[in-house]
Amino acid sequence: MPSKLTSPLFPFLILLTFASLYFFSSLLSLSPISKSHSFSISNNNCNLFNGNWVFDPNRKTNSFYDNTCPFHRNAWNCIRNQRQNLTFINSWKWVPHGCGLNRIDPVRFLGMMRNRNIGFVGDSLNENFVVSFLCILRFGDEGAKKWKKKGAWRGAYFPKFNVTVAYHRAVLLSKYKWQPKQSEAGIEDGSEGIYRVDVDVPADDWAKISGFYDVLVFNTGHWWNYDKFPKEKPLVFYKDGQLIVPPLGMSDGLKVVLGNMVAYIQKEFPGNTLKFWRLQSPRHFYGGDWNQNGSCLFNKPLEENELDLWFEPRNNGVNKEARQMNRVIEDALKGTDIQLLNLTHLSEFRADAHPAIWLGRQDAVAIWGQDCMHWCLPGVPDTWVDILSQLIHDSFHRTNGL
Ligand SMILES: *[C@@H]1O[C@H](CO)[C@@H](O)[C@H](O)[C@H]1NC(C)=O
Ligand SMILES: *[C@@H]1O[C@H](CO)[C@@H](O)[C@H](O)[C@H]1NC(C)=O
Ligand SMILES: *[C@@H]1O[C@H](CO)[C@@H](O)[C@H](O)[C@H]1NC(C)=O
Ligand SMILES: *[C@@H]1O[C@H](CO)[C@@H](O)[C@H](O)[C@H]1NC(C)=O
Repeated sequence: MPSKLTSPLFPFLILLTFASLYFFSSLLSLSPISKSHSFSISNNNCNLFNGNWVFDPNRKTNSFYDNTCPFHRNAWNCIRNQRQNLTFINSWKWVPHGCGLNRIDPVRFLGMMRNRNIGFVGDSLNENFVVSFLCILRFGDEGAKKWKKKGAWRGAYFPKFNVTVAYHRAVLLSKYKWQPKQSEAGIEDGSEGIYRVDVDVPADDWAKISGFYDVLVFNTGHWWNYDKFPKEKPLVFYKDGQLIVPPLGMSDGLKVVLGNMVAYIQKEFPGNTLKFWRLQSPRHFYGGDWNQNGSCLFNKPLEENELDLWFEPRNNGVNKEARQMNRVIEDALKGTDIQLLNLTHLSEFRADAHPAIWLGRQDAVAIWGQDCMHWCLPGVPDTWVDILSQLIHDSFHRTNGL
């Protein structure tokens, strides 16, 4: 009797076994969504910022997006621009010491964020971060629509979850504007003048976002140099509408701006807003700065023992400003509830992951030099997204007991 019962079932059971084997193996090896266990593992005791890049040939098959993502910015779209060896470059996985870092699960993440919004404020390196985030989250809601309200420069609304993620461009955070010199006859020549910075006033682009975002990620850093603001067209700092006297140089001005903007953020976005400050994204100009034919035609990450030579300020390398800037920012954030998003160290390894000469325009390198500052997408900022989403999850978990 039993054999008569089992025999018609047997082929079916075999089929079922294969089907489920196929199902689970596809979950494990192919689907980026199911591969993530980030919401069941608590990383509370682990420093996600300290670790190593490990070669993982499966990593690239897990990439969420390609050259067709509608949120791309052309110069960072390294698939479209045919950056050499991109598949190889994107086969490295960041592995924090002593714990795992899983890829974001866009559906679960958007589900957790339902009716909430995430804002980024800062320079183009935060925009680079947001483009990665939008392209990834789109896999959780293909109905994602471009969103540019409240002063946003770039963003998306995810209708299935009622979530908005957007970037507000504010390169110095404070408001600044070009002020041409008036000649005695009151005529503006246009070539001479100053950049007036109101240290205590946020730039218009993010002055009207109070109450809208539940998570905010700030940065500033890449514009505080004499290439952007040459000595003959200097930054001049004002407070309460009055010229600060004696006038501040650029590095003191930076400290005063940070102090004032941090105070503004603390007052304007109280404790129930989750606030991060992204530390500096390192550049990788080799053999000269951006305007001295500096290049980054690398094929693999730097070794850990090379990092100090590149970045430690006392070694006076071309890219030393990242760590210098971080020290100033770290000081300005002491005693606040703004968390450091210390992505500098993990990014320092990745000399191989910039757009370099593959910028999608013939004349781009001749005009601006190689881009060894922004990142290819897909690329390193995808790992920033994995880390940020983990930290947001951990924080909501702690405060809401989710
Ligand atoms: C950032 O993390 C790296 C690696 O753990 C560490 O060496 C560095 O001191 C950290 N920087 C700050 C400002 O916390
Ligand atoms: C969408 O989220 C906002 C908060 O960002 C909330 O005010 C609004 O009521 C939500 N809309 C719906 C339809 O749930
Ligand atoms: C950069 O390279 C070009 C072409 O090789 C050369 O003419 C120019 O002098 C170089 N510039 C610097 C600053 O080295
Ligand atoms: C790609 O990277 C590999 C490994 O470093 C290297 O051997 C190869 O020459 C690179 N190919 C190109 C076209 O740069």
